Amino acid sequence: MINPMQLTGRKYLITGAASGIGRATAILLSQLGAELILVDINIEGLKSLQSDCATRTQLLSIDLADIAKLRDNVVPAMKNFGKLNGFVHVAGIPYIAPIKSINLEKLGHVFAVNTFAGLELARIFCNKVYYAEKEPCSIVFVSSVYAEVGSPCNAGYAMSKAAIEGLTHSLAMEMASRKIRVNCIAPGFIKTPMDTSISRYFDAEHADVVEALHPLGLGQPEDIANAVAFLVSDAGKWITGTVLHVDGGFTAQ
Ligand code: NAI
Repeated sequence: MINPMQLTGRKYLITGAASGIGRATAILLSQLGAELILVDINIEGLKSLQSDCATRTQLLSIDLADIAKLRDNVVPAMKNFGKLNGFVHVAGIPYIAPIKSINLEKLGHVFAVNTFAGLELARIFCNKVYYAEKEPCSIVFVSSVYAEVGSPCNAGYAMSKAAIEGLTHSLAMEMASRKIRVNCIAPGFIKTPMDTSISRYFDAEHADVVEALHPLGLGQPEDIANAVAFLVSDAGKWITGTVLHVDGGFTAQ
């Protein structure tokens, strides 16, 4: 029997691949047989990842916040690599600020990376020139439990993630007739460099409170990578337009 999680011969683009969740996702999808375009602003991180991938990879070091240039940067790589079966938009940045300190320029940068880059990638990908129309195709976005759960000083980040969930629902409906599935994963706290950078705003007591909000404890990047692999593979072939909470029980309370 063929393993429905197998991705042999399929091609995906992954953003945020140099670190944390994106890196774990790239390694797992490669282990499952997928060929990958690995995108990140951090070229050194991409290079170190490449040696951990078993399949063909192409590195693309770009600033996803530069939406005006994103098409010019991504399209040549896609043309060179061959038609894709999908992409996973993992890249994201936090923005912790009380409401009175929110700076619209900074918020624009957060939205550019977390939200608009995902939208622009979808606008490029959903063109028959770039996606493998006779094969299974799937898009996965990454939001956060904070798209739906309130948390002080987190409005900017939460807005950017709620928007990507809205994109997921509508794009899934728009793309269903083309058999392109569109889903989103909302992680709880995962032990990654981003988690560490956020943690500097917490004292030890608050860190314990955050951990206690997760009945199964904090997550690992591989927990999200496993969910991505499920959603892009044929194991998830009847799933579209959904937001899958992978959060150790955080949002069930
Ligand atoms: P991370 O900080 O380990 O990795 C993010 C990657 O995105 C880095 O490799 C970084 O270089 C890349 N990146 C950032 N700005 C970029 C830009 N302008 N252009 C190109 N690449 C850029 O973060 P982590 O923890 O792996 O997070 C991945 C995603 O998961 C993010 O979207 C984040 O919002 C989301 N998330 C993370 C949680 C956590 O607890 N770590 C919880 C919920 C959601």
